[in-house]
Amino acid sequence: MSDQRCRILIVGSVNMDLVLQVERVPGTGENLIGSSYSYISGGKGANQAVAAARLGMDVTFVGRTGNDAHGQKLIHGLNREGISTELMIQDPDNPSGLAVIMVEPSGQNRILVYPGSNMAIREEEVERAFKHTYDAVIMNLEISDRIIGFVCGLAKNKGIPVVLDAGPVRTFDLSLCPGLKVLSPNESEAAALSGLPCTNPDEAVKAAARLADISNAGYVVIKLGAEGAVLWRNGKSAFFPAYTVEAVDATAAGDAFTSGLTSKYLETGDMDRAIRYANAVGALAVTRLGAQPSLPSAAEVAAFLEHQDNHYDNTG
Ligand code: RIB
Repeated sequence: MSDQRCRILIVGSVNMDLVLQVERVPGTGENLIGSSYSYISGGKGANQAVAAARLGMDVTFVGRTGNDAHGQKLIHGLNREGISTELMIQDPDNPSGLAVIMVEPSGQNRILVYPGSNMAIREEEVERAFKHTYDAVIMNLEISDRIIGFVCGLAKNKGIPVVLDAGPVRTFDLSLCPGLKVLSPNESEAAALSGLPCTNPDEAVKAAARLADISNAGYVVIKLGAEGAVLWRNGKSAFFPAYTVEAVDATAAGDAFTSGLTSKYLETGDMDRAIRYANAVGALAVTRLGAQPSLPSAAEVAAFLEHQDNHYDNTG
């Protein structure tokens, strides 16, 4: 029997997250007591891979961990989700990526990342992956510019659409990625890339228009957290309000959104439906602590949407 699932290649980061729950994040020079800590598997690329697998996609992951205990645990976690990790490297020279995440009771977080081995992915590791074909490639900015540009070139040659989740916040030369299908930053990432403020849906429309000009992406989708998402397509904008949920931890909500969007877009070819679905996937990720443990399955998303009939006029 042939596997009808969409095939996704993710070239991205994998981190161990040190998650601290705090009453509030400390200010400069302040020393506060937190209420708990745990090590939880994360990294934008790995989170996107796990989200995609739980939503039913057939996922191949290219990335690097260190040759250390965190690395083994991170790869094992991806394998448990049925993600192909055969092309992953355990880097002898660099430690696994580490993120320190402080989560406040509101679910808001602050994240600081040490990329470690994520920045050492090499061209030949990616080339091996491109011996196969995929329905889409997902990347983020937690890996080197050189590799992002290289992957975009290989995908373009093979006619494979690329979805670029533009996190974390940093400058990036979008001309390295001509022909993007989807460019999807959050508010602060959109501001950094566009040079425009992006704190509400109106500003997001302007930032999205600027990003579409700079990148020439088919779709610019700006994630606005608890507000929802703005789409810019062919010179027109649309706003998709978020679902209301009880927030525990916003970590990986954007990663969940990106994989939700990719999966529904590949299934239907309808970007509006894809964003509505992505809003649901992202909302569910906010209701649980941690990155990968928070990512919902397709069944959970379907059950959630069954109770949200009137949220959009045409939920699709
Ligand atoms: O997007 C959330 C992720 O950002 C975390 O899991 C952390 O590892 C950082 O990469």
